[in-house]
Parts: sequence; C-alpha cells; structure tokens
Amino acid sequence: MSRARLSFLHIAPTLVALWAATVTWSSVGADGHDVLINLTISTPGDVNIYKSFQTNEENLKRFNLTAEDMSEGNVHLNSHGEVDEIEVKGMKIPLHLDLRKEIEGLTYSYLTVDKKTWSVRVGDFNNVTLDDFKDDPNLVPENMTLDWSLIPAYTPNPANISLKSGVMEASIHFNNDTLLFEYLEGEVKVGKWVPILPYTGLFLRVINPHTRQLTFSKYFSTDYFMDKEFLENIRNLKKGRIAIVASFYDVTGHFETPVRDALEECGSFAAQHLRFRDLWAWVWQVGGATLAEGLVTNQNGIETIPPPLYLSLQIPAVNASERFCEDWPTGGTWEKRKQFCDTYDGYGDLCSCDNPFPTTADNPKMDTWREDIGILLVTGNRPQYLYRLLRQVLLQPGVNKTQIFVSIDGFHEEPVKLVEIFELKYLIHHPVGVGSPRISR
Ligand SMILES: *[C@@H]1O[C@H](CO)[C@@H](O)[C@H](O)[C@H]1NC(C)=O
Ligand SMILES: *[C@@H]1O[C@H](CO)[C@@H](O)[C@H](O)[C@H]1NC(C)=O
Ligand SMILES: *[C@@H]1O[C@H](CO)[C@@H](O)[C@H](O)[C@H]1NC(C)=O
Ligand SMILES: *[C@@H]1O[C@H](CO)[C@@H](O)[C@H](O)[C@H]1NC(C)=O
Ligand SMILES: *[C@@H]1O[C@H](CO)[C@@H](O)[C@H](O)[C@H]1NC(C)=O
Ligand SMILES: *[C@@H]1O[C@H](CO)[C@@H](O)[C@H](O)[C@H]1NC(C)=O
Ligand SMILES: *[C@@H]1O[C@H](CO)[C@@H](O)[C@H](O)[C@H]1NC(C)=O
Ligand SMILES: *[C@@H]1O[C@H](CO)[C@@H](O)[C@H](O)[C@H]1NC(C)=O
Repeated sequence: MSRARLSFLHIAPTLVALWAATVTWSSVGADGHDVLINLTISTPGDVNIYKSFQTNEENLKRFNLTAEDMSEGNVHLNSHGEVDEIEVKGMKIPLHLDLRKEIEGLTYSYLTVDKKTWSVRVGDFNNVTLDDFKDDPNLVPENMTLDWSLIPAYTPNPANISLKSGVMEASIHFNNDTLLFEYLEGEVKVGKWVPILPYTGLFLRVINPHTRQLTFSKYFSTDYFMDKEFLENIRNLKKGRIAIVASFYDVTGHFETPVRDALEECGSFAAQHLRFRDLWAWVWQVGGATLAEGLVTNQNGIETIPPPLYLSLQIPAVNASERFCEDWPTGGTWEKRKQFCDTYDGYGDLCSCDNPFPTTADNPKMDTWREDIGILLVTGNRPQYLYRLLRQVLLQPGVNKTQIFVSIDGFHEEPVKLVEIFELKYLIHHPVGVGSPRISR
C-alpha cells in the first residue's frame, strides 16, 4: 500500500506503536543492566513503525554504542516484512526482527471527503471478499427500479424541426420542444485575435421518429480528436433515427480530412467545404437520405462574421412496422434490448437489426482452459463507452460472464439497463464525494 497511490484522500496515516516481546539478540555477559532501545523502522509504505526491545548494556558495549545511539539507527523493513540489519554511525550491525505480524496489524486511517475517518487494516488485504465491505457505512447500495415498458408510438402527423446555427447563438427546436439553446453574451470582435469561446463547436441531437423522444444528445468542442469522436458517434446511431446537427461559432478548429471524407459518405455535402467560422446545419435519417442541409460561408476568415443560418423542415411520416427489429428473437433479454434500443442511441451493433452483437461468429473459443479470471469493471454514467468496453471484454477467448462484476457509481438508468441486457452481475452504490475523489472511491 503506497501513500502516493492513495493521495486522492487527505492522508493522515495513524502511527501504530507496537510493543514487541524481547528480541533474542546475542546475549553475552550479564554484568550490565537492561536498557530499552526504541527503534523507528521505516517501511516501504512510507509509514514508520516504532518498536522497542530490551537488551543488556554489555551487548552494546561490544560495538562501542549506547542505547541512544541504537535508537537513532537506520532500520528498514525488507519486502518480506523483516529487518536484517541496523545502520548506526556508519556501522552495519546484523539485527533480525520479524515484523510480519505487526505489519498485518498496521492500520491506515484516512480522512474522507466528508471529513470522516476511513480505516484500513493491512492484514485484511490478504484475503478480501465482498463480505468485508458488507457493513462499510460508506458503501451504501443505491435503491432502484427499472421500467422496461415501451412507450406508445406517436400518432403520425408531420413534425417540424427548426435550427439556427450562428456565431452568437445556436438552437434546435422540435415542434414545441427546445432541444438546444446556446448563446454568447456580449459581442464577438473581428480582427487578429480569435477568442476561445466556451461551448462552441457542434451539437448533435437524435430523435426516434416513432416515439418522438430524444435518444441521444452530445456536444463536440473543436478540440483535438473531437471530430473523430463525432464521426464514431454518428456511425453508431441506429438506422432510421433523425439526426440533427447545429454548429455554434466555429467547428473547424480540428476538423480533419478523413472525418470530412467520411461525413461526405454519410451524405453531407457541406462537411468538405467548411472553413473558419462557416455555419453548418444538417438533418438526416440515419442510414438514409439527408433531409435538409445548409451552409453559410464566412467571407473573409478572421475579418468577418457571417449572418446566422436558419433551417426548417418537416420530417417524413414513418412506417410503424419499422420501429422494432422484426428478425430479433423474442423473450428474455431480447425484450430488454428492444426497449433499450428504442429509447437510447449510439450503440452500433448492439442495436443492429441485421447483425446484433454478439453474432454466432463472435463466440469466443479457447483450446486450452487455464483458469477462471475474475473481472471487475468500474463504471459511472458513460454508457456508450461502457458498451465499447463490454464488447471488448465479451470477445476475449474463454471469457466467462459469471466471472464479471460491474460496479456502478450511482443510479443511472442507461448503464444499468445495458448491464442487464448482458446479464452481468452488478452493484450500484451511492456516490461519495465529487470529482476525482468520487471516481477513486
Ligand atoms: C569507542 O569510542 C570512543 C570515543 O568515541 C573511542 O575513544 C574508542 O576508541 C572507541 N573504542 C572502540 C573499540 O571502537
Ligand atoms: C525508550 O522509551 C522508553 C519509554 O518511553 C524510555 O524510558 C527510554 O529511555 C527510551 N530509550 C532510549 C534509548 O531513548
Ligand atoms: C479467506 O477468508 C475466508 C472467509 O473468512 C476463509 O474461508 C478463507 O479460508 C480465507 N482464505 C485464505 C486464503 O486465507
Ligand atoms: C434503500 O431501501 C432500504 C429499504 O427500503 C432502506 O433501508 C435504505 O435506506 C435505502 N437506501 C437508500 C440509499 O436510499
Ligand atoms: C409545422 O409547421 C407547419 C407550417 O409552418 C404548421 O402548419 C404546423 O402546424 C406545424 N406542426 C406542428 C406539429 O407544430
Ligand atoms: C405546441 O404548443 C401550442 C401552444 O401551447 C399547442 O397548442 C400545440 O398543440 C403544441 N404542439 C405540439 C405538437 O405539442
Ligand atoms: C412498411 O414496412 C414494411 C416492412 O419494411 C413493408 O413491408 C411495408 O410495405 C411498409 N409499408 C409502407 C406503407 O411503406
Ligand atoms: C464459469 O464460471 C462459473 C463459476 O466459476 C463456473 O461454474 C462455470 O463452469 C464457468 N463456465 C464455463 C463455461 O467455464
């Protein structure tokens, strides 16, 4: 247990004074009287152990040392929890102490974010089971109920989408619902200095046209790799969904050619042409046609600000028999998957009608069985990334689902349902703290 690794907590290690029985140390004559030597032993864990033992003064005289000299000696614990020698005044004197028992008894205390003390006994870490945490007051399981019912299909009538992509404002409206509204206060000045403005970039909203519900919502800044992230996300949308993109201020900070090419293949004419502070709006049916797209070019780079782009359209009526994948099996986890894929988006082949994961070809095989390996997955509320991870794990040869355990930080319906679809064991605990202490906890 290293202190650095646990630095997320305010560290206050408790020093445990250990009084050991008399250490057998070569005893020669018995003329002198007994003295108490108080050793400070440094451990690899950065915590000192204090150990006192009695010895006869005559033993020390052989080395021309006093009990005080000995008490100031350097003593280190080796990796087996034992002491081999003591270094005093440049001399290395053999000294054997077995401190394995004491190490096990060593208790570290930490101040938690809520100013309580959390104590860990080292010995407990040699054989930890879930039962050891059963009564830990910091680990409170979260109560939850999952609703797997399907919401009714929306009565077919045309639905309107209107978008505004602008330098100062971006918005998306779906009938009467506001799916996006972002704006900048003040004014943007043109000239040499291009300000870095918050929340500028691309906004993606996705609607299930059968239910009229929002299934996915994400913001992509113009930072490195966000263009790739954007592409990966739109490639993982479910076929038939209505995807809506509005730009805000500028999208081209890091908008690389491979991504532009891929977007063109997805049906966008404008992606290839976007330049600094151009405005873009795009609505398409995933796996199908572009429904509307607009581009307002910015005439003169950093010198100019283009007027806003407005786009409005009606989405086409849907064929109700295409809401669910008719070739999927029925019953069990397939019913759960059906509801999940109707409600959420961004899961690629999990929700594919033709090749839902895992296909029979994906069945991991292994020639030689070696051992059962337990896998702990720690997760919060980034369910698309969790799916990417589960997919990788479940494709490993020899993987055994009963050996996987998912720990979920707080109750979030989407990741919990995802884990249920794969019938994995999981536990949701009540989150403690905020930011990185919360993640570490
Ligand atoms: C012991 O230490 C004293 C004083 O430091 C020194 O005079 C003496 O020579 C030393 N004796 C031995 C055996 O090292
Ligand atoms: C060791 O500690 C004991 C008790 O605190 C004290 O009486 C003794 O003098 C100490 N020994 C040395 C060499 O400091
Ligand atoms: C671990 O603890 C359990 C329950 O206390 C016990 O049954 C088991 O024998 C222990 N295993 C080892 C290797 O100490
Ligand atoms: C969960 O429910 C149980 C029993 O109803 C209750 O005792 C417990 O306090 C609840 N836990 C939380 C975190 O709400
Ligand atoms: C959609 O727009 C049309 C034309 O502006 C309007 O007549 C219709 O009422 C709108 N529909 C809804 C559901 O808002
Ligand atoms: C939009 O709001 C108006 C006024 O509140 C209401 O009459 C109309 O039915 C709403 N349209 C939809 C599609 O919800
Ligand atoms: C609706 O979709 C089903 C299945 O794809 C198809 O058989 C049917 O002809 C479609 N109906 C209409 C009105 O397009
Ligand atoms: C998976 O692990 C469980 C529990 O360890 C074991 O009972 C089962 O036989 C394993 N399944 C396979 C296919 O090895």
